[in-house]
Amino acid sequence: MRYEEQIIEEVRERNDIVDVISSYVTLKKRGGSYFGLCPFHNEKSPSFHVDQNRQMYYCFGCGQGGNVYTFLMEYNRMTFPEALKQLADRAGIKLPEQEMSPEKRREADARSALREMNKQAAIYYNYLLKSSRGSNAMNYLKSRGLTDETINHFGLGYSDIYPDDLYRYLQSKGFTDYQMKDSSLVVIDSVRGNRDRFYNRVMFPIMDPGQRVIGFGGRVMGDGQPKYLNSNETILFDKGRNLYGLNYARRSRNRAIILCEGYMDVISLHQAGFTNAVAPLGTAFTPGQALLLKRYTEEVILSFDSDGAGKKAALRALPILRDNGLRASVLSMTPYKDPDELIKAEGAEAYQKRIEEARPGRMFELDCLSENYDQKNPDSRTEFIHAAAKNLSRIEDSIERDNYVTAAANRFMINRKELEKLVERYGMSYQLEQAGDRYKKEPETRERREEKKKMSKNQPQRILLTWLTDYPELYPVVSKVVGPDDFLTPLYHSVAIMLFDQLEQGEELKPARIIDRFTDAEDQKEVASLFHAKLDFGISEEDRDKALTDVVRKVKLASIEEQMVHTSDIVEWQKLIRQKKEIQELELKR
Ligand code: GTP
Ligand code: MN
Repeated sequence: MRYEEQIIEEVRERNDIVDVISSYVTLKKRGGSYFGLCPFHNEKSPSFHVDQNRQMYYCFGCGQGGNVYTFLMEYNRMTFPEALKQLADRAGIKLPEQEMSPEKRREADARSALREMNKQAAIYYNYLLKSSRGSNAMNYLKSRGLTDETINHFGLGYSDIYPDDLYRYLQSKGFTDYQMKDSSLVVIDSVRGNRDRFYNRVMFPIMDPGQRVIGFGGRVMGDGQPKYLNSNETILFDKGRNLYGLNYARRSRNRAIILCEGYMDVISLHQAGFTNAVAPLGTAFTPGQALLLKRYTEEVILSFDSDGAGKKAALRALPILRDNGLRASVLSMTPYKDPDELIKAEGAEAYQKRIEEARPGRMFELDCLSENYDQKNPDSRTEFIHAAAKNLSRIEDSIERDNYVTAAANRFMINRKELEKLVERYGMSYQLEQAGDRYKKEPETRERREEKKKMSKNQPQRILLTWLTDYPELYPVVSKVVGPDDFLTPLYHSVAIMLFDQLEQGEELKPARIIDRFTDAEDQKEVASLFHAKLDFGISEEDRDKALTDVVRKVKLASIEEQMVHTSDIVEWQKLIRQKKEIQELELKR
């Protein structure tokens, strides 16, 4: 959906960012700005900053930022049109009726077709399970102790033994090969023939929190490989951002959410009355899933399997939960393999008791840590105490840290005073390590690494844009050498076009207006961070000119090199070589 820029800007201007954000976050005026506790990450001292002049917000802790639209998109997880609608309503502005662009229309159609297809497949699998063709599957589920009510509640099903059973069913419902091609329900293959992804499996429909089927897990009955087969990711099915059972758990009256490993665990927990259980979708727990949980709870109870893999999974999940502001504790299943087994053997009360005895995440980590060291060997024990102190030093809240130091000292029989000293020492170096690195707190993921790589390549472009925003008086000097087209990164290129335009006209800069042009929340955040990277030179005039020259030179050289790659014209090439030499000798002075 595309709206006129004018209306986007009018709606934004009629909704003061301080008023809007104040209804979600308590803001205090300090100097000319407003500060509060950041709603996007867990913090104890306010680093969330709302700038009324610029009509922007920015968090110095986690780097979230943008204008009033970005805020609603991030806070309420809205799309841009939804945020626009809410703010227009708030200001009493009527939005013009919108036509979708053909591309958006196509995407929306594909999504709704896939939704319908998943729904039909779930209905069909469920029908098969209850028909005579599904009697083996039904017996299997019954043998695992599931009641009819549970089977219906989770919409379980069965995929038949015929290789193209579902394909033909969906075809009879009017779906085309083209629509089915990317559904991950069937494989469209003109050579070997079209066939179903799942056959002869017990089917677990996976639902989003809005109770819509987005994918499936299929289990073999008895032994066989692979035990579970899951849908591949589709435009609806993002494994890192959904959780099995959340459609019910979100409505559970329990304030905590139980995170376990598998579909069967979730189902048997719900059947036993623990309707707050969820599980990842056959992959390791992700930060996206932690954020999702954070929408519904503050506290997560880890109920992973008792084997080595389950322990490892818990150790991986704990920091992710913590970094997303969730408290966590860990249940012990021993001597049973998983919650399903424990409940079958000892019943719901026994499980409830395990919940009450759950160890806080930190304690669990320390216990696991201690198992890696031979406590009878003095060297090994010293190493352990250092490792434990290091872990404890990461606790931000000083009272909480203190409590844990006491608990750990008692549990592992360490002199409390000594432990405290060590913790302080590690805390100090940790803070140093952290300073100035706002990405540190977030777990290192592949995306983040890629991002960092990209960032360092884009760094000069970023810095130059930030400088131009903060010091518009640099514009005449810079624009002699660099133009918008020298910004090679698409996002920065767009920003540069608008920024240079505003600077050329000698207008007062309006960063919030530039952000308006980007309707994607990620882009908005990135652009907002450009306008908020405070660059206090704090250095001599001469050094500053040198730094400016250096950045301009880097941007321009990258641009020239890019052009050289794309030219085969010898005259053009020579011109670029000359330019390159000039730039290498460039000295900028204000
Ligand atoms: P049961 O073994 O039937 O009790 O199921 P479970 O849910 O307890 O399974 P388990 O603890 O073995 O595995 C936990 C989760 O990992 C499952 O629910 C699946 O999501 C996933 N999983 C297990 N086996 C496989 C497999 O072979 N392939 C894939 N892709 N995922 C699997
Ligand atoms: Mn199991």
